[in-house]
Amino acid sequence: MSDDLFDLHVGYVSFKNPIALAPMAGIVDSEFASKYAGDAGLVVLGAFNLDEGSIAVASEMVARGRKEFISSEPLEFIKKEIRAVTTGSVVAVNVRSTTLGPLVEAAKMVKEEGAILELNAHCRQPEMLEAGLGEALLHDLPRLTAWILAIKETGVVLSVKVRANVVDDVKLARVIEKAGADIIHVDAMLNGFEGPDLAAILNYRDSTRLFLIGNNSIRDFAGAKEAFSWGVNMVSVARGAMDDSGLVRELVDGIGSYQKAIGWYNAPKHVCSNGDFRGLAFCCLPVKPCPVHEKFGKLGYTAEEFARTKLDFAKGTLLEFGQDTCFGSLVWCCKITKPCWIRDGALNALDLSDASYMKLKRELAEYILDHARVPINESLY
Ligand SMILES: Cc1cc2nc3c(=O)[nH]c(=O)nc-3n(C[C@H](O)[C@H](O)[C@H](O)COP(=O)(O)O)c2cc1C
Ligand code: SF4
Ligand code: SF4
Repeated sequence: MSDDLFDLHVGYVSFKNPIALAPMAGIVDSEFASKYAGDAGLVVLGAFNLDEGSIAVASEMVARGRKEFISSEPLEFIKKEIRAVTTGSVVAVNVRSTTLGPLVEAAKMVKEEGAILELNAHCRQPEMLEAGLGEALLHDLPRLTAWILAIKETGVVLSVKVRANVVDDVKLARVIEKAGADIIHVDAMLNGFEGPDLAAILNYRDSTRLFLIGNNSIRDFAGAKEAFSWGVNMVSVARGAMDDSGLVRELVDGIGSYQKAIGWYNAPKHVCSNGDFRGLAFCCLPVKPCPVHEKFGKLGYTAEEFARTKLDFAKGTLLEFGQDTCFGSLVWCCKITKPCWIRDGALNALDLSDASYMKLKRELAEYILDHARVPINESLY
């Protein structure tokens, strides 16, 4: 599969595909990653414990039978682990610390290794929370902000791993973006529900344009495809990969074929089917009462401004054509997966492939967001 099929870049890293192995303490090391996820675009090793406080808590947890990675020389240990992944996947390291200093030191080393630092704001064992680790950070947004700011001063590509439905997800996503992190890795968990919680993913997608990784209970390509259509840039798997050593390959193959066929692997749903803001690229001319008005209104557009913005983008592109379509131009046309012989006839006449049509729609979605009167991270979501 060609490495630029997906065009996925964040800072100094480029992913070969949008499938990731998620971290599992005491389990996901370089050996596990190579064995279970050699094809993945990203492997997130860890969690690793960086300071005395986190090592003490992890040791307590080992004493009660949980697996943990513990080393008296954490930075050397992590460096070796990063270097031992030789599959061509980007490497991230999920880390815990009760204090900021070790996180900054780890960030410097991780950046030199060309890897990603992932701040763990996710683990929620009682001992962790008591020591202020993991999910405790979600309940202390000033500390989370200060830590992200300080870590980002090193220039490292920073991911923050969070759990959905713990605090206000919209506010959390915006705080993380504002502080300067590059990636949000969300466990879209909902108590009492076999996830992922797709509504939670939509909350993140419509609050930030940051690179979004999502997981929870994804065990086949159908599940991954659904999560992509709710707006994640990348899907990660933890338990599924452990139970099925072929899962990562299945997901990589599935999403590769899908991208080749439709050109926008995480294309949103239509706005009237709960699509995110990017779905405005598939919306009709706003001449009838329907959910489009509320959606573009949240980005500060009037109906006229919204229509003009779409037409401005279309000028000089093949989306200008399609006279026989519902509104006289492909710029108002539906997602390629919605069957329509009129649109398909126009695409044929223009010799425009499905994938090229969808790539134009992806650019249109970016254009609509770029020109919003109210940016997405301040929208009235
Ligand atoms: C045994 C185990 C250990 C985990 N350890 C971590 C961890 O150290 N850091 C972290 O951010 N997430 C950790 N997770 C959470 C996973 O990364 C993932 O978010 C969660 O399991 C949901 O995804 P899944 O349904 O694909 O397993 C762990 C999960 C499991 C099952
Ligand atoms: S404009 Fe069309 S696609 Fe958009 S929400 Fe309304 S009916 Fe759905
Ligand atoms: S012509 Fe077909 S694709 Fe275009 S807006 Fe009408 S129904 Fe949708």
